[in-house]
Amino acid sequence: MTNRRKMIAGNWKMNGTHKLVATMVNTLAENTTDQADIVLFPPYVYLSDMIHQAKNTSIAVGAQNCAVHLQGAYTGEVSATMLEEMGCRYVIVGHSERRALYGETNELVAQKVAAVMSCQLTPVLCIGETAAQREAGETMTVLQDQLAVVLNRSEGTTILSKMVIAYEPVWAIGTGKTATPELAQETHSQIRQFLAQYSPVIAEQVILLYGGSVKADNAAALSSMPDIDGFLVGGASLDPTQFLLICQAAIKGR
Ligand code: 13P
Repeated sequence: MTNRRKMIAGNWKMNGTHKLVATMVNTLAENTTDQADIVLFPPYVYLSDMIHQAKNTSIAVGAQNCAVHLQGAYTGEVSATMLEEMGCRYVIVGHSERRALYGETNELVAQKVAAVMSCQLTPVLCIGETAAQREAGETMTVLQDQLAVVLNRSEGTTILSKMVIAYEPVWAIGTGKTATPELAQETHSQIRQFLAQYSPVIAEQVILLYGGSVKADNAAALSSMPDIDGFLVGGASLDPTQFLLICQAAIKGR
């Protein structure tokens, strides 16, 4: 039996309003306790408002991305240092949309993880294979490559002990095609086995989230799986009622 704490994270992507910030924080604060880590990732422009609204609640706030540099002449970028100063606790790194749409490579993602960690923030590292890669039997090679570049450094085990990993199969993101609980469990278990090569003890403690079309009606079955420690939710995290139901299902599961 594991003692890993559940985490439910909501990635708003480029969605949301100030009104939704208030409604979401109030709904979650009124209906959840600190039985699990609940983290919201709104766009940068709503971070300050959300951090303010979530003060005195157990809800944590994070950013969806950050610059690889900590400061300097990088127009349009936001650094991990700034996110830490404003009260963020987490940063999503390597989301598949950033890998696919903005050309983020495994190496750049690894550098961003290092930048995030240098600021005492927790990286939520996203990994995942495309449909073609899964069909070609390349899933674990792809996931291992995505992880290895981050972890094959002298401080690799320290990084592993401080980060959260989100397995998000690209074919399940925004498509309504959720991985079955069995397939997600099998992949999570293989990820944990790979991580054990760095440290068997830490591998057992790492929080492994599943992401990809998580909804209120599939959250319970997924979260009953032994290696699924919670969710990184996209679309359904924009609806307070639905996101709350997902949080409740995750807390109850396993
Ligand atoms: P959906 O839940 O909308 O499929 O998005 C998942 C995701 O990309 C979360 O980061």
